[in-house]
Amino acid sequence: MGVMLAARLLGLLLLLGLRLQAAGIAEPPLPTVVLAILARNAEHSLPHYLGALERLDYPRARVALWCATDHNMDNTTEMLQEWLAAVGSDYAAVFWRPEGESRSYPSEEGPKHWTKERHQFLMELKQEALTFARNWGADYVLFADTDNILTNNQTLRLLVEKGLPVVAPMLDSQTYYSNFWCGITPQGYYRRTAEYFPTKNRQRRGCFRVPMVHSTFLLSLRAEGTSQLAFHPPHPNYTWPFDDIIVFAYACQAAGVSVHVCNEQRYGYMNVGVKSHQTLEDEKVNFIHLILEALVDGPPMQASAHVSRPPKRPSKMGFDEVFVISLARRPNRRERMLSSLWEMEISGRVVDAVDGRMLNSSILRSLGVDLLPGYEDPYSGRTLTKGEVGCFLSHYSIWEEVVARGLARVLVFEDDVRFQSNFRGRLKQLMEEVEAQKLPWDLIYLGRKQVNPEEEVAVEGLPGLVVAGYSYWTLAYTLSLAGARKLLASQPLHRMLPVDEFLPIMFDQHPNEQYKAHFWPRDLQAFSAQPLLAAPTHYAGDAEWLSDTETSSPWDDDSGRLISWTGSQKTLRGPVLDLAGSSGHSLHPQPRDEL
Ligand SMILES: *[C@@H]1O[C@H](CO)[C@@H](O)[C@H](O)[C@H]1NC(C)=O
Ligand SMILES: *[C@@H]1O[C@H](CO)[C@@H](O)[C@H](O)[C@H]1NC(C)=O
Ligand SMILES: *[C@@H]1O[C@H](CO)[C@@H](O)[C@H](O)[C@H]1NC(C)=O
Ligand SMILES: *[C@@H]1O[C@H](CO)[C@@H](O)[C@H](O)[C@H]1NC(C)=O
Repeated sequence: MGVMLAARLLGLLLLLGLRLQAAGIAEPPLPTVVLAILARNAEHSLPHYLGALERLDYPRARVALWCATDHNMDNTTEMLQEWLAAVGSDYAAVFWRPEGESRSYPSEEGPKHWTKERHQFLMELKQEALTFARNWGADYVLFADTDNILTNNQTLRLLVEKGLPVVAPMLDSQTYYSNFWCGITPQGYYRRTAEYFPTKNRQRRGCFRVPMVHSTFLLSLRAEGTSQLAFHPPHPNYTWPFDDIIVFAYACQAAGVSVHVCNEQRYGYMNVGVKSHQTLEDEKVNFIHLILEALVDGPPMQASAHVSRPPKRPSKMGFDEVFVISLARRPNRRERMLSSLWEMEISGRVVDAVDGRMLNSSILRSLGVDLLPGYEDPYSGRTLTKGEVGCFLSHYSIWEEVVARGLARVLVFEDDVRFQSNFRGRLKQLMEEVEAQKLPWDLIYLGRKQVNPEEEVAVEGLPGLVVAGYSYWTLAYTLSLAGARKLLASQPLHRMLPVDEFLPIMFDQHPNEQYKAHFWPRDLQAFSAQPLLAAPTHYAGDAEWLSDTETSSPWDDDSGRLISWTGSQKTLRGPVLDLAGSSGHSLHPQPRDEL
């Protein structure tokens, strides 16, 4: 009886709570937050940075903006002011810190060089933001660097809910770098620990106590001990490196304030900073790569509609056509590819892929498609799938167009490409070098799986190229008119096998003598970019893996059933495609200045 009553009472209370919530009076207002924006030479990332801030699911009336820009060589100040003019009045308050006069620091080597004066000034600026937040009476202050894009619109809410004194959302990057350390030496330097990679890779998930966070973190101004924290001047006993992030870590340690990083969600991305001698252009290139990564891994970045961005000027990069083969029933992939190319200022043309599901035996007969006698998948022993026929026909139609229109050289993409850093710049350089060396080429793989791990033959005078050995995939390649002619002349429709087995036959690197005997001459001049410029978005076994060629019914089956060929999986991650190794970045996270 008593239990029943209690349950009823509880039910009533819950109901009352819901009613009150609906009426908008039950919930206490969310804590107030000062958002500190310190922008310098950030034109390339500001539109996405501000876009993410304005999408945060947090009442703007509970947020004050503290903004500072300094020593800019680009349009940072104008952009920020344009944004504030559009949205500033929604926020509880906006404070604009007046900018100093000089445009650079005395001993500065470039716009990304961190001199001692620069660190000192940054520490002073952060201190000003902190003091402003305290005086304004805020509950929290959120520091968020302008190349950190908080794509998760719940970030601020979730961080506030943690109720921690100092907490950072773990940010993903293109490399092994993130915005926390797991270890620190007694001298205040980075210390390698066993926890770093499992944390960064989210094998270990949750909120973890760490000695240092930076770039984006929320500081509670109400938590015990945090009133003693400062960026400047450093703690009287401070002997560690003169850097705002280390100064702050030391202050937390000295005040006994715990510092946490949380990684149970994807919160957003951070761009890996460039070295001090590099330029704003280099940083912009890195940032574009980050935009592309977010398009693959999600959630994507969205630029603010309230700032004017420099116009994009897409081109075909000297190719006669840039084809993107994509299935009409996979609109997300198509859109992602087009967005990626747009970001890189490459103008691509979508070609509707031949959908294997639409094929049946009578259509195949009318096209003259016949299976290569004796063909079976090297892994599962299965026959050709409809998806593979569709894929072959899609590439084939492009080769036909190349020949029909006499296109000297084209670029071909499938719709599941993950672009490597600086794809555009590296491809441009590669093609210029190929041109300069007058290399006769028919096909150049930009993304592929090297089947055998042996070293391939180098090409004299072309360090970015090798002679292609046996390769899988047709993810991304360039093709010349002569190459397209050779492919068509071999009449492959009448003896079809998967297109990525056909190409190696045509450059005479296929190990199967029986298959090869059907084609002559096998004189395609095929090369591969090395390191590769493109990879698949996902590999067999990844949660997001989806293959329209390997999940498909046999080529001559009219029943309409779909089969998942678990034995095949050509798209398993190969040892050769260890992207980390080829990206040229350090294997270990390092303090900011060493990167
Ligand atoms: C937050 O983002 C999610 C996923 O992108 C979206 O569905 C949702 O509508 C957003 N919420 C707000 C309040 O903007
Ligand atoms: C700089 O910003 C202003 C205001 O946002 C804009 O009108 C102008 O076109 C921008 N200039 C450049 C070079 O992007
Ligand atoms: C600085 O160090 C000295 C000696 O180690 C110690 O006595 C003093 O309390 C420290 N000062 C502060 C502010 O912690
Ligand atoms: C194959 O598809 C075509 C076009 O959809 C259809 O007209 C034809 O009847 C189909 N043939 C078989 C054998 O299913």
